[in-house]
Amino acid sequence: MIRCLFTAVLLLGTPLLATASADGPQPGEAYPGGATTHTRVGPVSADAFSHSAANIAFDDKMTFALGRAIFRKLWVSSPSSTTASDGLGPLYNARSCERCHLKNGRGRPPETPNDNSVSLFLRLSIAPRSTADLSTQQQRGVVPEPVYGTQLQTFAVPGMEAEGQLQVSYEEQRVALADGGDAWLRSPRYQILQPAYGPLHPDLQVSARIAPPMPGLGLLEQISEADILSLADPKDLDGDGISGRPNRVWDQARQTTALGRFGWKAGSPSLAQQNSSALQGDIGIGNAMIPGASGDCSPQQTTCLQAPNGNTEAQGGLEASQQMLDWLLFYSRHIAVTPRPNAADPEILAGKRLFNDSGCARCHRPHFVTADNPGLPALSQQSIWPYSDLLLHDMGEGLADHRPEFAANGREWRTAPLWGIGQTRAVSGHNYFLHDGRARNLLEAVLWHGGEASAARDRFIAMPTDQRTQLIRFLESL
Ligand code: HEC
Ligand code: HEC
Repeated sequence: MIRCLFTAVLLLGTPLLATASADGPQPGEAYPGGATTHTRVGPVSADAFSHSAANIAFDDKMTFALGRAIFRKLWVSSPSSTTASDGLGPLYNARSCERCHLKNGRGRPPETPNDNSVSLFLRLSIAPRSTADLSTQQQRGVVPEPVYGTQLQTFAVPGMEAEGQLQVSYEEQRVALADGGDAWLRSPRYQILQPAYGPLHPDLQVSARIAPPMPGLGLLEQISEADILSLADPKDLDGDGISGRPNRVWDQARQTTALGRFGWKAGSPSLAQQNSSALQGDIGIGNAMIPGASGDCSPQQTTCLQAPNGNTEAQGGLEASQQMLDWLLFYSRHIAVTPRPNAADPEILAGKRLFNDSGCARCHRPHFVTADNPGLPALSQQSIWPYSDLLLHDMGEGLADHRPEFAANGREWRTAPLWGIGQTRAVSGHNYFLHDGRARNLLEAVLWHGGEASAARDRFIAMPTDQRTQLIRFLESL
């Protein structure tokens, strides 16, 4: 009896509870980031993702502002008189974090051949060929393309050639909906034009990624590992067709494997590591966690390795000091999630019911309570509504990139958190979704779901028009 009671209490404590009774508005769901949620006055604006967590201490607002300055800093090539900002590249994808994560919103694919959008890039790799490759894969998640490295850098400092240019083309296919309507889905094809360092490996694997939105990441980092793992069902023992596996990745700081949480395949264990690898891989800035002033230059790219660097005494012998990393980390942890003033609107509640009943919430887990962390008081024990289990799911052939990353296979993706998704147009000026921005609206994003999400997608296709509209209105309210 005592044991039963104990189990019941444990069950009540799991994140499942919040999906169980979803008919009315649930306590706190209008504030998806708990006490960190930005308390907006007035209409949604392009600055909706630009606020610090509402509950940080007054003094911490200064640290947030310093972090934001690093996030927006435009790095310049070396040598330069502005030694605190030099070290760009030599190969790079953009000169600042903000160029891709514009207004902390999401990136987008290029819209025309001459579009200079940089917020979609190609990750590169090859399949392992030797035991040495296997150990590289264990630490880096992938085996880099032997010459071009792990990412196609489409820019280079003066005097050097960019690795190549990315061209995206699309093929359209029609999807019929049960109500007689239809939708067109576009499948992307990526081509690397003008490869400047010789032919690419014949077995090249590519994965296109757009920059994800930044709000609430610090809260996702504070969900306890046990809560996430309790949702995993790798062998689908409950027989609902949905498994969910954790990614296990290399943790640079702790020099061990850890649960992956960040990136479209959950390839990074922490914001500190994600930020450092972005500095290094996207901008070419060496730093305390990932030193090396040459960014993603490979041993074959000798002129790249010999180019002047931005290491300076003032930055601890690096291009970006530990202090810069600390500010950046504070910033990326404390970007506020937006409120949901219309969470109790009957139309939206109807959409929410459809979301739950269709099985969307089996992966897009609505609710968690973050762990107690005295070091991060603002993010501690918050009741949050991110709509993700942070686990990997097989999403079918349509979305597959056939490029494994750590434990994630070529068909698996991390459930994308949905909070803030309704603000995309206001913040980013577009409505492109999914890891490579192929979906041009929320309808298309859902229709692309396959694999473990096929049954949920089919229920969505089968809905009468007004129900599908209600479900999409619910997504727009997030
Ligand atoms: C060239 C574009 C680009 C630049 C520059 C860039 N990012 Fe990103 N960022 C991305 C992409 C694309 C992803 C997704 C990566 C993946 O799936 O592996 C990402 C992912 C992230 C994530 C994880 C988000 C999530 O939801 O999991 C964080 C945090 C982040 N970037 C921070 C930064 C910081 C800090 C900088 C500057 C030092 C930066 N980024 C620079 C494109 C960029
Ligand atoms: C099996 C798990 C699973 C189920 C079930 C599921 N999703 Fe998803 N969802 C994902 C994953 C994984 C992604 C990211 C896929 C990608 O980017 O390629 C995603 C992405 C999305 C996106 C785009 C998010 C973004 O940031 O671009 C939306 C919107 C979405 N899902 C809504 C839904 C709705 C509505 C349903 C129910 C009809 C649903 N999902 C069911 C796993 C799931």
